[in-house]
Order: sequence, then C-alpha cells, then structure tokens
Amino acid sequence: MKKIILIVLSILTFTSYAQTASTQKRIIILATGGTIAGSGDSSTKAAYTAGKVPIDDLLNAVPQIHNYGKITGEQIASIGSQDMNIVTWLKLTKRINEIFKNNEADAVVVTHGTDTQEETAYFLDLTVQYDKPVVLVGAMRPSTAMSQDGNRNLLDAVVVAADESSKTRGVIVAMDEKIFDARDVTKTSTTNIETFQSRNYGPIGLIYDGKVKYYYQSLRNPAKKFDVTKLNSLPQVEIVYGYADANANSVYCITNSGPKGIVYAGMGNGNFGAPVGKALAEAAKKGIIVCRSARAGSGRVTLDNEVKDAELGFVVADDLNPQKARVLLMLSLTETNDRAKIQQNFFDY
Ligand code: SIN
Repeated sequence: MKKIILIVLSILTFTSYAQTASTQKRIIILATGGTIAGSGDSSTKAAYTAGKVPIDDLLNAVPQIHNYGKITGEQIASIGSQDMNIVTWLKLTKRINEIFKNNEADAVVVTHGTDTQEETAYFLDLTVQYDKPVVLVGAMRPSTAMSQDGNRNLLDAVVVAADESSKTRGVIVAMDEKIFDARDVTKTSTTNIETFQSRNYGPIGLIYDGKVKYYYQSLRNPAKKFDVTKLNSLPQVEIVYGYADANANSVYCITNSGPKGIVYAGMGNGNFGAPVGKALAEAAKKGIIVCRSARAGSGRVTLDNEVKDAELGFVVADDLNPQKARVLLMLSLTETNDRAKIQQNFFDY
C-alpha cells in the first residue's frame, strides 16, 4: 500500500514539474556591455569601466531571475554604448530574428549601456520581425557600486519579458521600475538613476514586486518592419546641431563627406538661421534627404508651417528626437530615396 502511495505521489510530482517546465518561458539574455556590466575599484566612487562583467557573472549575481523562466545568456559585445555601432546593431537584430524564427526562446532581454540604449531600442523596434517580447535594460551605476541598480533592473526586465502581456508591444525598455516604448524613450539625465523618460507620453507600464502592469500602448508599431537580413551596413546619415548665430560650416563639411541624409537638430520647431537654412536647402537640391528635427526634447516638428518644407525639399521628423530620426532615416534610405515616401515613414513609424 505504502509503495502504491509513493508511486502515485512521484507521478503527481513529476507531472506538476513537467507542466511547470513546459509553461516556463524560455528567455535568452543577449549582453552587449554598458554600466550594467561595469566594474569599478571602489563602491563609493564614480569611476568605473563599462562592459567588463561577462554575462555569466551578471546572471549569477541575480539568481532570482530563474524563478521567472528558463534563462540562458549570450555575449554579443562587451562595449560601453558610446561605442555602439551599426555592425553590432545588425548582429543583434539578426540574432534576435534567428532566435524567434528557430523558436529558441519566447522572449529576449538585451543588456545595454544607457547612453545609446534609446537608439538601439528603436533600431530593433524597426527591424525585429516578431511580436514576441524584446526588452532592453541597463543600469546607471556599475555592478560594484553601493546601491547599484543593475541587479534590480535585470530582474525586472526578466519579469517583463516573461509576462504574457508584454507581447505585441514592439521593443520595450525596462528601467527603474518603469516600462517605456522604444520609439518614445530617451535618456534625460547624465547620472541620475531615474534618467529614462518618455517626455511626450510617459511610461507605458510599471513593474513592482515581480508584477507587470501596462497602462498605455503606442499606436506607432506598424506590422511592416525593415528587412536588414542581407545588409552589412546602413546609408550614411549625419546630425547637425542648431544654435544661435550658427554658421553653415558643419553643414557644408558634412555635405562634402557624401551622406545620403542629414538630420538637422533645430531650434524650437526645427528652426534654423539663414546661413544654415541656405546650406541645408543646397544639400537637399543635391539629393541628400534633409530631415528637420528639434533639439527641444519634446513636442513635434510640424510640416510646412514656419518653414516652407515643400519648397526647400525638406522632410520633418514629427516627434522623433534627432538621434531616433537618424535611425529611421538610415533604415528608410535602405528602401527608397523618394522624399514623399520617407516623409510618410516619419508619420507612420
Ligand atoms: C554606456 O552607455 O555604456 C555607459 C553608461 C551607462 O551604461 O549608463
């Protein structure tokens, strides 16, 4: 009798283990470096080197992540995100697309430096072809610092990635207990841990106590993504910064370097003084796509209001900041040089 009870109990235990194992989300963490993998000599001093800690050590530091899924890690790069580059972007998006195509995971988390995290997030948002969760995360304090934020942020990112409601939201950024849409998020403080914000629209969700709650969803998540499968580089697009009494030297210098596009980070509603306006119009005449964006940090640049965009041959970035406008312009230029189509992309993506 005792033996029968033991057998029944083992079958029940095995069945429940098998069920948990099969419902457990498979999450791959792709590490690229950044402060989240940063290491310093002192827990109280600010100096540290980004991208030093390998993925296995990052994962071992937060064993709680294994409560939320079957977690594995891969090292894609070990760089501070100031050195993030198009080659690594392409490697990252190709690997994420491959992971989902081969059904290797249900979700992906990308650990990344915070400096250019918003650009990588938007690039992935525009190029990952699957609806499964892709969550970017970083830290403002290195792993060796007192009150470091990386472990908590990593745990939260895994919680978000494992959550069923994170699907079909495009790429998201999970930082400091908040969830942001990749398109809208931006780094707003050089050193403060509450640096990430979506200045126009706010966070789309919150993470607390191992739970995720979404409040909003961006409408800018078109089903058609850019296909970069066969690409090893992207068209050259540069950014020019606007300021009072600017001469046009930087515009001419860039124009002569042979770009396919120029993003102008203009004053106010993407405005420029006369010399810069003239130089940009000349660039547009040469076939360079000139996109007016704003240095203001929020709001949108409106088409054909203060500036005669149609006449001058410009497009506007709508509400994308200059660095994100550059990402969309580079990707748009992989498909077309048609100004009207590119303008439409700025209204759709
Ligand atoms: C970096 O972006 O890699 C350095 C800064 C950071 O991660 O916070």
